[in-house]
Amino acid sequence: MQLTYTILFLLPYLAAIRAATLTSPGASRADYVNQAMNAMRVLNDKWFDLESGLWDGMWWQSANILTTLADLASINPSFNDTANFIFKNVFTAALAMNGGTWLNGYYDDEGWWAMAFIKVYDVTGITAYLSAAEDIFEDLRTGLNATCGGQWWNKDPAHVNSINNELFIDVAASLGNRVQHKREYYRRYAEKQANWFLNAGLLTKNNAFHDGLHLATCIAEGPIFSYNQGVILGALAELSKLTGNSTWLDHAAKTAQGTIRTLIDHNGIFTETGEYPTHGTTVGQFKGVFARNLAHLQSVRGDDSYVTLLTKSADSIWQHDRDEDGFLGPDWQGPVYGISAAAQGSALDCLIAAAAVSA
Ligand SMILES: *[C@@H]1O[C@H](CO)[C@@H](O)[C@H](O)[C@H]1NC(C)=O
Ligand SMILES: *[C@@H]1O[C@H](CO)[C@@H](O)[C@H](O)[C@H]1NC(C)=O
Ligand SMILES: *[C@@H]1O[C@H](CO)[C@@H](O)[C@H](O)[C@H]1NC(C)=O
Repeated sequence: MQLTYTILFLLPYLAAIRAATLTSPGASRADYVNQAMNAMRVLNDKWFDLESGLWDGMWWQSANILTTLADLASINPSFNDTANFIFKNVFTAALAMNGGTWLNGYYDDEGWWAMAFIKVYDVTGITAYLSAAEDIFEDLRTGLNATCGGQWWNKDPAHVNSINNELFIDVAASLGNRVQHKREYYRRYAEKQANWFLNAGLLTKNNAFHDGLHLATCIAEGPIFSYNQGVILGALAELSKLTGNSTWLDHAAKTAQGTIRTLIDHNGIFTETGEYPTHGTTVGQFKGVFARNLAHLQSVRGDDSYVTLLTKSADSIWQHDRDEDGFLGPDWQGPVYGISAAAQGSALDCLIAAAAVSA
């Protein structure tokens, strides 16, 4: 398996690596694409396993990485063949790994997979991926009876978190935009859920979302994680498109701007709120989720500050947060430490986002 992989993937990358090494900061779209291709190769060589269809054995994080690769394919058609090979491999091998289902005990895990397949459908046009996302959505509906409203985080219900509720809006609105004959069905779910979520008391004064609600009081609690500020941007962009109501984009812009005010360092580099590594390696993936969704918002409601944030952060990753083997660390200011598939995929998200918003 490893040999096939090496032969299949190595040759096209050599040119990309050479080009990427030569680029300087303030890069062009083509430079960011080359850097992203390089980061993707390192990610797959080190962590992708054909047998399990997963990166470093991780479950929902692999769904996130799959989303990242779909984004890369959407900005770089020469990645098409490799991407399609990986999409197919994950679609069979990871499913088998999980006992023939995309479902588990966590609604957010399921939401990540649904979003991955929606993105893969977007770049391949293969309806089997869209159908998988629709099937997952039917299970997501079963969690909508949470104590404070919205959806439970898990099926042994003990938490109401922001992330799964944002993913629910994103999945419902995205399906509404793609499954014509069920447009109204998905729209009702997406709109109802968004109205609840934006008014659930989760917002800080900066329009950033707390991690969840305390069940006994229904009052917001938990850190301001970057991924909670990210998924909602894409969700509201999809909902605005689905409803033709741009009010949703006003909400998205407020959250994006509030996040940029609070989650950057003095050099303008995007930063998690000092929670890493308290919450484990996985938190290294959160910033990439924000970058990905900020690029989505930029494509429908642009703002120069988004472009600045994404390109500055991408340039910092390339200059200060990359080791000699091409590994990218979890802190985009650098220096590199604690390499992981989560951190590599997250930095890759930022390079792709920088390419998407650059000329
Ligand atoms: C990439 O693949 C998709 C289908 O998987 C196809 O629609 C698209 O035209 C391809 N692009 C290129 C440049 O081959
Ligand atoms: C929520 O609804 C689902 C499906 O209808 C049910 O299985 C579950 O027990 C309910 N959970 C709670 C906490 O009421
Ligand atoms: C657009 O959505 C907002 C927020 O839900 C709502 O208050 C407003 O009435 C909607 N506008 C239209 C024209 O439907």
